[in-house]
Amino acid sequence: MSKEKILITGSGGQLGSVLTEALKDKFGKNAVIATDLRQMENYEGIFELLDATDAVALEALIEKYKITQIYHLAAILSAKGEQNPLQTWDINLKTLFNVLEASVKYKIDKVFFPSSIAVYGDMATKSNTAQDEFLNPSTVYGISKAAGENWCQYYFLKYGLDVRSLRYPGVIGYQSLPGGGTTDYAVEIYHNAVKEEAFECYLKADAMLPMIFMDDTIRATIELMEAPKESITIRTSYNLAGVSFTPEEVVTSIKEHYPNFEVTYKPDFRQGIAEGWPSSIDDSFARNDWNWQPKYDLDAITAEMITQLKKKYNLITQ
Ligand code: SER
Repeated sequence: MSKEKILITGSGGQLGSVLTEALKDKFGKNAVIATDLRQMENYEGIFELLDATDAVALEALIEKYKITQIYHLAAILSAKGEQNPLQTWDINLKTLFNVLEASVKYKIDKVFFPSSIAVYGDMATKSNTAQDEFLNPSTVYGISKAAGENWCQYYFLKYGLDVRSLRYPGVIGYQSLPGGGTTDYAVEIYHNAVKEEAFECYLKADAMLPMIFMDDTIRATIELMEAPKESITIRTSYNLAGVSFTPEEVVTSIKEHYPNFEVTYKPDFRQGIAEGWPSSIDDSFARNDWNWQPKYDLDAITAEMITQLKKKYNLITQ
């Protein structure tokens, strides 16, 4: 039996719902305590309602389950965050401070904090953006992640807290839907394609962004968390790359399967956010420190998304 007791905030989210299952597979059902603001429907395992802005409630769960690791995934993403900037800052930072403070107080072994490509802004070189590029984020989400990364490093340096972090690209998976991000189109477009519905894209056809398939995302997260402490040289957040592509390139890839797929482009404010972000990422620190290697390119993502979504929508024909 695993000695770990892992608490996850934001377990009901796009990444959280898949990562929670992966951690249960790895450590056992009773080793994982899923938490979210809202009840997770049909969840099998230990679940607790938690508003992570409530430090007392968080600490009570840490005590109740004798937690050894925390994955702090709860956050408001880039596009949604712009609707209420101060509230986004408040929620994203308050929940992080609650996790960091409680982790020091209860001597938590390891903490995971997701950062994002949104930490970069227009001063960073767009192509193959380096680990130590300028961080001048333009969204409140990006500002909260850039500040959050630095606070993680501060808790590592000041208290020795073993907190680890990845700057996720846009995550693409069939298991769950994203909510409120700028990269969400790259999930939604596959749903429309398999349902044989037209798609209206809110980014321009040539908006190239860094993306990563869910399987790679989960593997990167677990590989980072399993890496020996001495090999972790980045204590802010690691650049992480999967694959970069434009909406036009996804459409071409989907058309290999659905030649009649129709897409129109109607850029909105999210195009402005995308223009501030890198088009590709240099993740050599992740590759060197803990042997990161993505597996899925665009066509592999397309094939897997279509196969799995067809099953989800019961569209498999014999
Ligand atoms: N997928 C996220 C977003 O678009 C980026 O971290 O907000």
